[in-house]
Amino acid sequence: MSEIPPSAENSKANYFTDSYKKLKRFKLFNPSLGVLGFTVLLFSCFILLDYSRVANVPSFYNGGNHVNKKKIDFLSEFGGGCDMFDGDWSWDDSYPLYQSNDCEFMDGGFRCSENGRPDFNYTKWRWQPKNCNLPRFDAKVMLEKLRNKRLVFVGDSIGRNQWESLLCMLSSAVPDKNSVYEVNGSPITKHKGFLAFKFADYNCTVEYYKSPFLVVQGRAPPNVSSEIRTTLKLDKMDWSSSKWRDADVLVFNSGHWWSYEKTLRGGCYFQEGSEVNMNMTVDGAYRKSLETVIRWVGEEVNTNKTQVFYRSYAPIHFAGGNWKTGGSCHMETLPTLGSNSSLPSSNNWDQYNFSATINVLNITHMSSRRKDGHLSLYYLGPNKGPAPLRKQDCSHWCLPGVPDTWNELLYALFLKRESIRNSD
Ligand SMILES: *[C@@H]1O[C@H](CO)[C@@H](O)[C@H](O)[C@H]1NC(C)=O
Ligand SMILES: *[C@@H]1O[C@H](CO)[C@@H](O)[C@H](O)[C@H]1NC(C)=O
Ligand SMILES: *[C@@H]1O[C@H](CO)[C@@H](O)[C@H](O)[C@H]1NC(C)=O
Ligand SMILES: *[C@@H]1O[C@H](CO)[C@@H](O)[C@H](O)[C@H]1NC(C)=O
Ligand SMILES: *[C@@H]1O[C@H](CO)[C@@H](O)[C@H](O)[C@H]1NC(C)=O
Ligand SMILES: *[C@@H]1O[C@H](CO)[C@@H](O)[C@H](O)[C@H]1NC(C)=O
Ligand SMILES: *[C@@H]1O[C@H](CO)[C@@H](O)[C@H](O)[C@H]1NC(C)=O
Ligand SMILES: *[C@@H]1O[C@H](CO)[C@@H](O)[C@H](O)[C@H]1NC(C)=O
Repeated sequence: MSEIPPSAENSKANYFTDSYKKLKRFKLFNPSLGVLGFTVLLFSCFILLDYSRVANVPSFYNGGNHVNKKKIDFLSEFGGGCDMFDGDWSWDDSYPLYQSNDCEFMDGGFRCSENGRPDFNYTKWRWQPKNCNLPRFDAKVMLEKLRNKRLVFVGDSIGRNQWESLLCMLSSAVPDKNSVYEVNGSPITKHKGFLAFKFADYNCTVEYYKSPFLVVQGRAPPNVSSEIRTTLKLDKMDWSSSKWRDADVLVFNSGHWWSYEKTLRGGCYFQEGSEVNMNMTVDGAYRKSLETVIRWVGEEVNTNKTQVFYRSYAPIHFAGGNWKTGGSCHMETLPTLGSNSSLPSSNNWDQYNFSATINVLNITHMSSRRKDGHLSLYYLGPNKGPAPLRKQDCSHWCLPGVPDTWNELLYALFLKRESIRNSD
């Protein structure tokens, strides 16, 4: 897996090429200004040197609980080299970006405060990368960039969590809420496998497809042992892929369903070609499925048109048990701050080798510090009261909350890509 999005790795090189191109254009325009052009280039080189010097000095990072004015903007010419996933949570009074009771495009299950959660602190944290500043999310800018486009989330219910977050973030800039609607008139509910919201003023849709494994799950081949009820066809992308292959932005996620409980235990085994491999571990199968995603993107997606993202595993925070055995997180009201806060142990970290065509939204580490961000007892819906103490949800996230940050990172990478593409 690449640590820095491919757009970022080449930013310095691009910068030189760009300057060179600009210089050439300049000369074509007016040869007598060549000397001025050279001066501009020289000056630019000084800036570049200066940047390299600053960027290499570790003390540049002040531990950052406030925006450091000296930090470079991620969207600026040099900002792309910054690892936006390395940083800390920072208290910000201007957050959250929207209020849940202003957003009708969110199902009751994510409305923690409306469902009785007493503290609001979990809505107040902004992600501050160590070495750069992120652009503040501007829904109008994003909608304008999405004009006539489709943005599609494909994955499990944590993907739906993120999709609903983005619907709320975007619709906050739309005064006429009737101009935002589900294309088939379906209500927002977790029981639907496909939902697409249209922002009519921008002719764009923001869609969600449920596909928790990303690959095909189906009937077992004939003549296999009777313990095999279904199989996951690890080498075949989900059938619904034909519906979203041509989207302009694709955001995948998976991971939570690649567990023993959700597969082998229920008689769901792993198939490659026509063979069912009774020995394959869940982790091994997960890995193969991601290889299929990467291969499929390479073969089937026009990445000149489509920006492809894979959001890494969103950590869970059950303490003292798991979801079935009374694990809890309802007393958590603060993130784990500090750059060397320890990570909860988990065998589900993503360590896969993504290709250059897929941007990884590497949110696992940052989210692991947000044990305060989960639904805990507050997922039953408004006026239904908190859930029983032993039935907590420490997997999904309150909205507004942590998934908003994932979308802010998506926003930054999306704008960066668009600006690089438009300058080509
Ligand atoms: C994700 O980001 C964290 C924090 O910067 C980093 O430690 C980790 O190596 C990254 N993982 C991947 C796979 O890029
Ligand atoms: C609306 O967007 C779709 C793509 O999502 C495009 O095919 C269609 O031409 C657009 N309509 C108009 C009127 O621009
Ligand atoms: C499948 O099972 C049937 C009945 O047991 C048998 O006739 C057939 O030859 C088997 N086919 C294969 C490919 O094993
Ligand atoms: C599964 O494991 C058994 C015993 O470890 C081995 O004999 C068999 O060849 C393996 N099958 C596959 C498909 O790898
Ligand atoms: C994508 O762009 C590259 C470089 O501009 C070009 O060589 C390639 O043919 C394009 N691919 C498609 C599928 O349009
Ligand atoms: C919320 O944050 C404020 C300011 O940091 C703090 O004083 C208060 O104790 C926090 N509340 C809870 C419930 O953690
Ligand atoms: C980070 O860890 C080091 C060594 O374990 C420790 O000395 C330091 O105080 C820690 N810093 C923070 C912010 O927790
Ligand atoms: C990752 O993929 C690249 C290109 O596909 C390959 O060159 C590299 O060896 C792979 N790295 C690992 C650790 O598998």
